[in-house]
Amino acid sequence: MKKYKVAVVGATGAVGQEMTRIVGERNFPVSEITLVASERSKGKILKFKGENLTVENLSEFSFKGIDIVLSSPGASVSKGYVPRAVEEGAVVIDNTSAFRMDPDVPLVVPEVNPHAISKHKGIIANPNCSTIQLVAVLKPLHDAARIRRLVVSTYQSASGAGAPAMNELKEQTQSILDSAEQALPLQGKKAEAKVLPCQIAFNVFPHIDVFLENAYTKEEMKLVDETRKILEDDSIRITATAVRVPVFIGHAESVNIETEKRLTPDEAREILGKAPGVIVVDNPSANEYPVPVSSAGRDEVFVGRIRKDESIEKGLNLWVVADNLRKGAALNAVQIAEILGS
Ligand SMILES: NC(=O)c1ccc[n+]([C@@H]2O[C@H](COP(=O)([O-])OP(=O)(O)OC[C@H]3O[C@@H](n4cnc5c(N)ncnc54)[C@H](OP(=O)(O)O)[C@@H]3O)[C@@H](O)[C@H]2O)c1
Repeated sequence: MKKYKVAVVGATGAVGQEMTRIVGERNFPVSEITLVASERSKGKILKFKGENLTVENLSEFSFKGIDIVLSSPGASVSKGYVPRAVEEGAVVIDNTSAFRMDPDVPLVVPEVNPHAISKHKGIIANPNCSTIQLVAVLKPLHDAARIRRLVVSTYQSASGAGAPAMNELKEQTQSILDSAEQALPLQGKKAEAKVLPCQIAFNVFPHIDVFLENAYTKEEMKLVDETRKILEDDSIRITATAVRVPVFIGHAESVNIETEKRLTPDEAREILGKAPGVIVVDNPSANEYPVPVSSAGRDEVFVGRIRKDESIEKGLNLWVVADNLRKGAALNAVQIAEILGS
């Protein structure tokens, strides 16, 4: 079996660390792995399968001889270095938004559109975390009943904004609890936001990524545009609201679909029960439904609360949860690498 020389760019970040861990866990055929980050991390020691590796500086790193790059250093950094890495002979699987909507770049979720991988010209884009878990559930329903309209509201964890945002959630929560003179009420206690745009501890806010001219956020428009690209159907009408919640790992989504063909909740459960990488958890009377604390560390996308939308003729409501760092980012990228290597 061929073994691959792999570079992880953004290796010190929330996604990069998870990618390195998953490459080790899944026994991806690696002959050599190199960890790369910014100048700030040069010389830092990180582990791969118990072995110490020294982090290299991206701006001094040559991609000659590297087969596959697992990339997550942020969109502006990717835009700058990825063309050079491709020119030097590597195939880059990029986790950032830099190339996702480029018509020459496949945007891939292996359970949904693996056929797109073969069209790559050196770059394959990993979709946004909230898109990956959404399309894993939508694809089999779209194939069965054709989705005409989709309304999605997300409840996204702090880790979606990287390791610094997870620290901010921890520190704000701790400082509010430490400064509380009485146990309750804690509402109204303020903490300074440095990484995220608003206080995250004991709060939720409808602001992920930047606001655009159409009054949506970029995160919301990623859900719209990426879903259409992956499902290869620009006719689906989609509207999204993306919300940050004080959870460390695991994004949740309230999903409403209107379909061309009628689909009962039982039929949807049966279809989703057979969908690759999807697990149905739908027994509300026993308090069983997907939640972030149970999805963290898991590879699958969980769906539950499947019920008829009683306000329209042919519609369903669903609740979708996944580990945003694993299936929403790192695992999806490693699965793409596995297909490339197969
Ligand atoms: N978190 C998620 O759920 C998720 C999901 C899908 C996609 N993504 C995307 O993945 C990317 C990274 O996210 P993250 O959550 O891992 O962020 P993060 O925890 O902040 O990590 C950022 C990583 O990028 C590196 N980096 C920053 N500037 C760099 C530069 N100039 N040159 C080289 N490396 C540089 C950092 O290295 P230093 O430590 O040296 O600064 C660090 O390794 C983002 O584009 C994000 O949108 C994230």
